[in-house]
Amino acid sequence: MSGMVNAQAILKARADFPALTQRVRGKPWVYLDSAASALKPWPVIERIGHYYTYETANIHRGAFFVADRATTFFEESRSKVKAFLGAAHTEEIIFTKGATESINLVAQSWGSAHLKAGDEIVVTEMEHHANIVPWQMIADRTGAVLKVIPVTDAGELDSAAMQKIIGAKTKMVAVTHCSNVLGTVNDIKAISKLAHSFGALVLVDGAQYVANFKVDVQEIGADFYAFSSHKIFGPYGSGVLYGRKDLLEKMPPYQGGGSMISEVTFEKTTYNSLPFKFEAGTPHIEGVIALGAAIDYINKWGFEAIHAHEGSLLAEATQKLSEISGLKIYGQSLHKAPIISFALGSIHPSDVAQILDQENVAVRAGHLCAQPLMRRMKTKGFVRASFSIFNQSADIDQLVKAVRKAQEMLT
Ligand code: ALA
Repeated sequence: MSGMVNAQAILKARADFPALTQRVRGKPWVYLDSAASALKPWPVIERIGHYYTYETANIHRGAFFVADRATTFFEESRSKVKAFLGAAHTEEIIFTKGATESINLVAQSWGSAHLKAGDEIVVTEMEHHANIVPWQMIADRTGAVLKVIPVTDAGELDSAAMQKIIGAKTKMVAVTHCSNVLGTVNDIKAISKLAHSFGALVLVDGAQYVANFKVDVQEIGADFYAFSSHKIFGPYGSGVLYGRKDLLEKMPPYQGGGSMISEVTFEKTTYNSLPFKFEAGTPHIEGVIALGAAIDYINKWGFEAIHAHEGSLLAEATQKLSEISGLKIYGQSLHKAPIISFALGSIHPSDVAQILDQENVAVRAGHLCAQPLMRRMKTKGFVRASFSIFNQSADIDQLVKAVRKAQEMLT
């Protein structure tokens, strides 16, 4: 399926998501919080159910047919993720419990081995807390210093400031591919080029980007790339760290336990090869297998179609929300994911979200796990509407109607 998504295709997509068939308070429900959690389509739900029903067995250690089969399915998911990210090798794909754990893994493992006092870690003002706090923690332990690339009023990275901040002392640039608040898509290729010219590495938080766009980690020059399964129609508690093989090979393990070892004696333990060195303990087997089903589901649509549909929803929602007086949208980048964060005059975002909820419109509100960005934008919080393949024009109309009602009631 490619090109523009027609109305019939949208109806088909909607039928894939059973959560959309429920009535809340006796009325249809509008889900506009895909940037927090994508709803789950039937193929993903059924894949988990199937594993629990017929395939339950531990992997990589089984002495029987069903366990071997589970191992095969698990490793097939690794190959699907490799293709999904455009990685060069399957052993560059590490399964974690989500983007947050992936970033913590790099910060702790790479950081403890490579950072020393005075080294600089560069983040940006638009990062999610998950791409700030792990770096602060390792900076505290090693004496490294955190530097921050500022964001412009339009919600983009200040590229002049970036040219000054990334320099000879930079060892790591940790940057989001797409802001979970502003929707801004960052030019990772340009950032990587700059960072690499100083010998620094680049870790990309891809949690929002991979839900909406095709990525090629080699093409953009990412050394590490992190994402969570639950934002791309997959299960909670499973996620991915991509890391360049030559870098992962030199990094110490993050956690110790079963699977990650080669040989254990009380005197000395040797470690397993990639990717298992970083996968201690029994993993989220059904989560990883169902992540494979989620990738199959995305591939069935194709990013061209997803992007065409979401792009038109973004344009329509931006235009209709902009017509509401006193409503301010944060993030005016031309290259945006289908995410709109806004404030409604001086009304508290949580109060707006509460009225929206009463109107059966589900959004997220608050600091959106990006308190530094909230301060930068001088707001007490955001109301965020985010869109996915199953959303339709009628959802936007219901959102706009509910926002107008909130404005009437709260001013
Ligand atoms: N990171 C998720 C969000 O932006 C939870 O909502």
